[in-house]
Amino acid sequence: MKTVLLTVDKKVDKEKIYAQAVDILNQGEVVAFPTETVYGLGAVATNEEAVKKIYKAKGRPSDNPLIVHIGTMEEVPNYVEEIPENAKKLMERFWPGPLTLIMKAKRGVLATSVTAGLSTVGIRMPDHEVALELLRALKKPLAAPSANRSGKPSPTKAAHVYEDLKGRIPLILDGGTTGIGIESTVLDVTVNPPVILRPGGITKEMLEDEIGEVLEPTPKEQELESTPKAPGMKYTHYAPEAPVYLIEKNHEKIKQTIAKLKKEGHRVALLAPSNYSATSADYFFPFGDEEDQKQMAAKLYDSLRACDKTDATIILATTTSSEGVGAAIMNRLFKAAGGKFIEVPGTE
Ligand code: TXA
Ligand code: MG
Repeated sequence: MKTVLLTVDKKVDKEKIYAQAVDILNQGEVVAFPTETVYGLGAVATNEEAVKKIYKAKGRPSDNPLIVHIGTMEEVPNYVEEIPENAKKLMERFWPGPLTLIMKAKRGVLATSVTAGLSTVGIRMPDHEVALELLRALKKPLAAPSANRSGKPSPTKAAHVYEDLKGRIPLILDGGTTGIGIESTVLDVTVNPPVILRPGGITKEMLEDEIGEVLEPTPKEQELESTPKAPGMKYTHYAPEAPVYLIEKNHEKIKQTIAKLKKEGHRVALLAPSNYSATSADYFFPFGDEEDQKQMAAKLYDSLRACDKTDATIILATTTSSEGVGAAIMNRLFKAAGGKFIEVPGTE
């Protein structure tokens, strides 16, 4: 299959591009498109055959359900049994935006593969012009996971999607680099208080400001849970080829660790704030300013992918505070590293 990449920007004939994408989707094929978080791989959510092609293109396990993307609030009642009060408030406040709400699914409306057999469905309205215009031209919901090969870091650029899915999907809409850079917050509103199943751009504090108490399992609890609530949380995710280790932000320790690793014959890639450039790492991928978690989130996946383009044998990534968006960043970093911190004897 030939994969076509079309750039959607103000200068080009956008209507024609959306019409082409809508045609392909209505034929039961998949299309990759940008959202404000990461690129998604979409298929019409009511078409079982089309949705199955998403799993196939990604190599995704079929027990991991997909998020349904919608273009207007009015559609929500078509897909869910009821909209809890909390959900109504959150939609008003945060949609369009990086918040996925898990609600009771209406039976027999969405393709079975979307919910992977669960009685609930995750719905969100993305805050990106291209995604919204595509959804509004299509007038149907799009089931869409992140547009990466399963297990790879999520794509924040059309080039990442092309790298992973070239030859496997017919069309990628290129809308530039995504703004937020990590996936939406997934919140289960079928329970009271609601539970964050995956931390993201909309933080616990922001949610609580609107609806009061919200629960958040610690990374340890998520790992230990035998049947995770968000099935996606149990797979090793977001990982580049070389092993990733977490390291504290401490200039002296980082320097010593890199020196030791290089002596052992390693080629070291370092992902850290810009002010950590003066180490002897073979490759340095700056996250932006030390306290700027927004930049860190925006650059995380691109940096992890960039490591794959080097001959680094080990990747060190600095941790950040778990306040605010930091919770989402640490969640992704923890997974990329499989929870491992670097331990090099003789360094402090
Ligand atoms: O920002 C995002 O959410 C991106 C963009 C493309 O919208 N999408 C995304 O989709 O990250 P995906 O499939 O990579 O992650 C969806 C997550 C998974 O962890 C999945 O297990 C969880 O949401 N999920 C989906 N439906 C669910 C349900 N009914 N109950 C519990 N968890 C669900
Ligand atoms: Mg994903």
